[in-house]
Amino acid sequence: MAKDRFKREIDYLRISITDKCNLGCTYCMPHMKPKTFKTNEVLTGEEVLRIVRVARDFGVHKVRLTGGEPLLREDIIDLVRGIKAAGVPDLSLTTNGMFLGARARELKEAGLDRLNVSLDTMRPERFKKITGGGELERVTSGIDEAERAGLSPIKLNIVPIRGINDDEVVEFARMTVERPVHVRFIELMPSRRDWDDKKCVKSAEVQERIEAELGKLEKRQFKGRGPSRNFTLDGAKGIIGFISAVSHSFCYDCNRMRVTAVGKIRPCLFNKTEIDLLAPMREGASDKEIRRLFKLALDTKPEGNYLKDPKDNKSIDSMSSIGG
Ligand code: 5AD
Ligand code: SF4
Repeated sequence: MAKDRFKREIDYLRISITDKCNLGCTYCMPHMKPKTFKTNEVLTGEEVLRIVRVARDFGVHKVRLTGGEPLLREDIIDLVRGIKAAGVPDLSLTTNGMFLGARARELKEAGLDRLNVSLDTMRPERFKKITGGGELERVTSGIDEAERAGLSPIKLNIVPIRGINDDEVVEFARMTVERPVHVRFIELMPSRRDWDDKKCVKSAEVQERIEAELGKLEKRQFKGRGPSRNFTLDGAKGIIGFISAVSHSFCYDCNRMRVTAVGKIRPCLFNKTEIDLLAPMREGASDKEIRRLFKLALDTKPEGNYLKDPKDNKSIDSMSSIGG
């Protein structure tokens, strides 16, 4: 297994397979019309599979496909099948759910192990506003279809934003009582120039509001590593998780690297350092050389992010370009 300079085992790769998205969530898209790359600048299916194979040999066991919106890729089913064939035991995907109804069954059959859906509100009008035109009904029926296809338990990602959707946190938590869903509250990270600190609703506040209405949250221990701290409500079928990048740094336990849609390794989300794989691959680099670039990425992975430091005006790039 590959370890970085800080003795962290890096076994998780998140690959953005497109920078395009059919929606434009306010917190994700930095401006209304983001520049998108040309098709020939984006990784081909073969290139994605090659990166996965090299990463697999380098010790990666977990792969997540992100975007943009990964279900916009026409070869998504072949990609899932190919990545499973490369011997990746845990393959997941993050989607906005708009095309899930049409794709859920094929995804499951191709070998997809797990699914995350971004869902910030259960109110149709609000959904339209937050996502820039999304239809809530399509997403919720897509989630139902994915459950029927056997992709359960599905993780629902909620980014509570003060004054926008934070009045729904209790309703989302309540959803876990009857359904085996994993509802995860993600702290809003600074990603726009007009960033306003007060918009981020910290996990402690969300937890307090849930406990005031629904009772105490029981801590759950999980085998897998990851930034989510998980809880259950008494007698509930599902799980409530908190991902608190702003209030708690979890960098000490980081297990991941990213590859952007244009084939650059990002050792850390909060750091602009990138190592290009695309040009070397297109110029005929061998697998051994690609592996060496992975090693370089591992050796340049920084110790941590500095989101909490008030002197540091750090913001992340748009998630749609680097993949959530
Ligand atoms: N802060 C927190 N989460 C974000 N995402 C995108 N932008 C941000 C941000 N600024 C996450 C959302 C979505 C996924 C695709 O990326 O949770 O579910
Ligand atoms: Fe698209 Fe997801 Fe970004 Fe929303 S958060 S704009 S659905 S990539």
